[in-house]
Amino acid sequence: MPTVAPPAAANVLELIGGTPAIFLDRLGSGVPGRVLLKLESANPGGSVKDRVAARCIADAEARGELRPGRPVVELTSGNMGIGLAIACAVKGYRLVAVMSSGNSSERRQQLAAYGAEVVLVPQAAGGVPGKVTGADLALVEARTRELVRELDGWRPDQFANPSNTSAHEATTGPELWAQARTEGGPLRAFVAIVGTGGTFVGVARALKVREPTIRCLAVEPVGASVLAGRPITNPGHKLQGAGYAFVPPAWQPSLCDGTVAIGDEEATATARELARREGVLGGFSTGANVAAALRLAREVEAGAVIATIACDTGLRYLSTDLYG
Ligand SMILES: Cc1ncc(COP(=O)(O)O)c(C=O)c1O
Repeated sequence: MPTVAPPAAANVLELIGGTPAIFLDRLGSGVPGRVLLKLESANPGGSVKDRVAARCIADAEARGELRPGRPVVELTSGNMGIGLAIACAVKGYRLVAVMSSGNSSERRQQLAAYGAEVVLVPQAAGGVPGKVTGADLALVEARTRELVRELDGWRPDQFANPSNTSAHEATTGPELWAQARTEGGPLRAFVAIVGTGGTFVGVARALKVREPTIRCLAVEPVGASVLAGRPITNPGHKLQGAGYAFVPPAWQPSLCDGTVAIGDEEATATARELARREGVLGGFSTGANVAAALRLAREVEAGAVIATIACDTGLRYLSTDLYG
């Protein structure tokens, strides 16, 4: 256990980033490669989106687009909203978070706790709670646009905002590179699930500029492997926050060396193992990332490192069947 704590910060935004990483040597025992898991769940808002939210707000302020009194309006599956809610709480902005009713209830509750106004959009006909599809997202998008117009809101628009990828290129990627090099063998691959693609694209850019031979693989739901060019057979998966069955605007195919398709069952089983054997409580997307990383760790030489991301905390899924 470290005996020296970091110095006191001026506010919680200063605590975003610089997240720890651990080797999953219990889950990976008997496998030649080592999986390195970066715990984005350790951010103040519990997810990979804190970095993005803080950077979007700071960049918009610097450009003069966001100023005191202008509300922030955003479409969110929860994690971006929580990151924005933290930044808006510290900086004094009103936040209107628009999300699908298909997302877990903890996400809404947490947003409201930070003082955000949550607008819930009912799922498309036949939608299943806990499974947010592209059709659901289209409805949330339409409502978000209306609210931006009505309120003259500023929209971070995480799918189109370059601050999303640049946050990861400037921070997550270099941190991961340094962590892999200090503690482990050669970093052979990085695997990450894709929602907006910000994490994958930003980290892949940062890694490949340092070592072009690092393989970067995108994780996708089995029934919605659009990046692999496969037909969509089941867009209604459980990997909340990712796998929307469309190619996101930030996507850069040249950075992607391949894809790994993971089903709900494998993601769930891996998240459970991660909690029980490594003591790390992640969500479905974290389970998918670790499952994909373990597959790759079977194919590499002894000691080679496969890095991936714990996208958010499993506490956000207690109302689902993940741990129930
Ligand atoms: C739980 C979870 N996993 C994965 C992702 C995907 O991250 P990205 O949008 O950077 O592709 C998100 C994004 O919101 C998320 O909330």
